[in-house]
Amino acid sequence: MTKTILCIGAGYVGGPTMAMIASKCTDYRVTVVDINPQRIAAWNSEDLPIYEPGLDDLIRATRGKNLFFSTDVEGGIRDNDIIFVSVNTPTKTFGAGAGMAADLQYWEKTARQILENAQSSKIVIEKSTLPVKTALAMERILNSQANDISFDVLSNPEFLAEGSAIRDLENPDRVLIGSRETDRGRQARNTILEIYARWIPRERILTTNIWSSELSKLVANAFLAQRISSINTISALCEKTEADVAEVARAVGMDSRIGAKFLNASVGFGGSCFKKDILNLVYLCRFYGLEEVADYWERVVGINVYQQERFIMSMLTAMFNTLAGKRICLLGFAFKANTGDTRESPAIFIARRLAEEHAEVVISDPKALGNARLDLAKIDGAFHYIEDPYEAAKGCHALAVMTEWDLYRTLDYEKIYEKMDKPAFIFDGRNILDHKRCFEIGFNVYPIGKPPLTHFEV
Ligand code: UDX
Ligand code: UDX
Repeated sequence: MTKTILCIGAGYVGGPTMAMIASKCTDYRVTVVDINPQRIAAWNSEDLPIYEPGLDDLIRATRGKNLFFSTDVEGGIRDNDIIFVSVNTPTKTFGAGAGMAADLQYWEKTARQILENAQSSKIVIEKSTLPVKTALAMERILNSQANDISFDVLSNPEFLAEGSAIRDLENPDRVLIGSRETDRGRQARNTILEIYARWIPRERILTTNIWSSELSKLVANAFLAQRISSINTISALCEKTEADVAEVARAVGMDSRIGAKFLNASVGFGGSCFKKDILNLVYLCRFYGLEEVADYWERVVGINVYQQERFIMSMLTAMFNTLAGKRICLLGFAFKANTGDTRESPAIFIARRLAEEHAEVVISDPKALGNARLDLAKIDGAFHYIEDPYEAAKGCHALAVMTEWDLYRTLDYEKIYEKMDKPAFIFDGRNILDHKRCFEIGFNVYPIGKPPLTHFEV
């Protein structure tokens, strides 16, 4: 009998993860369902709903063979006994915990849908990032009916990062599976472990109790974001003292206890996870009366806002204290390179603040202009969307690098400079440009956490 797997939620996590499982476990039939018919239609087309390097090839190799996308959630539940759930868990926008707690309504709705349609026992796996103890609530809902069907809930959080999702799925640092320490729990865990063990060395598959697993995902994201906020605070100090944040990060990161990764000072971190998960952690700490712990982690998000506002203030001060009527080109809008995703992108904050200063904003990005349009639709301001960076920069007073796309490292800045208003400025929110070279061309260059290079007399 063919083994089957269902995934509910065909998003950035569900789609790529199931494609990888299908490609590594060709004897499994993998079905991904979603309530959004446009999303499913896109997964079934040549124009996938998300951009991710390597995803097209993976989908081409598996779709229609042992990977299927469908809107039939109920049928999927009936036909599959292993169900991954990766529906979204956004920050709650209403009622208790608004702006902080996770909105679990989609999760609970999905649990009830599983309960209503299940005709046999199921293993239900939390793929979405969830507050600690969510599995308990799920178990209670799922096992609320007196019949012979039983449900085992596991936690198996996904650690992939966008832009490198396929590489991360193929070669993860670790896979984490949390389960109940009962015979049934262990049996369910082994069923999932067997899937990953097809391509991941056993020593990298970590098993823990279910609450540790749920919490580890929140903590991993909080620690990653904390490193960025930490180096960003130091970038502010570097700008005051003529130290260079890249040199400091290098010196600090060479300590093997600290490590070199995730120490790039930037305009701020974005993405759908970091802010949401930290606020979720903060909410949990407050819920359990741990005010000091909550305050500690909340500052990581506070510093991220500070860093973005600092970027705006640096533009304003450098450009003679007025941005009104000036044309400013944002190079990049995605929250990081190699994705079209703009969720929580610092570029949204920067575009909004520039509009508040009555600047005209030209937005350029190789993959994210569609999402940028949606993000800025509700914001008042003069926004233009031009994919070609040379066209976008024409007639602008300043360039502001928002995303570390490789493309921006190798543009002909001499050609760009010629077509810009003078004095021309560069604000490098990612420290990816050759600042000295740009200065020599004639630009006034403002990196993050490094002394600016300007042609003005001090
Ligand atoms: C989501 C969560 O945001 C994140 O917390 C978690 O770690 C993984 O899942 P992502 O895949 O990026 O991340 O979310 P998104 O791209 O929004 O995909 C979720 C999908 O679930 C959407 O396509 C949505 O239509 C679908 N969905 C939502 C359902 O199929 N049923 C629902 O009831 C709700
Ligand atoms: C993150 C986690 O890395 C991943 O493990 C988890 O599953 C989901 O959340 P993601 O948000 O996709 O992944 O991207 P990530 O590479 O972590 O970058 C997040 C943000 O931090 C981006 O805006 C990025 O530009 C920024 N960043 C990252 C920095 O500003 N400096 C750095 O040194 C690293």
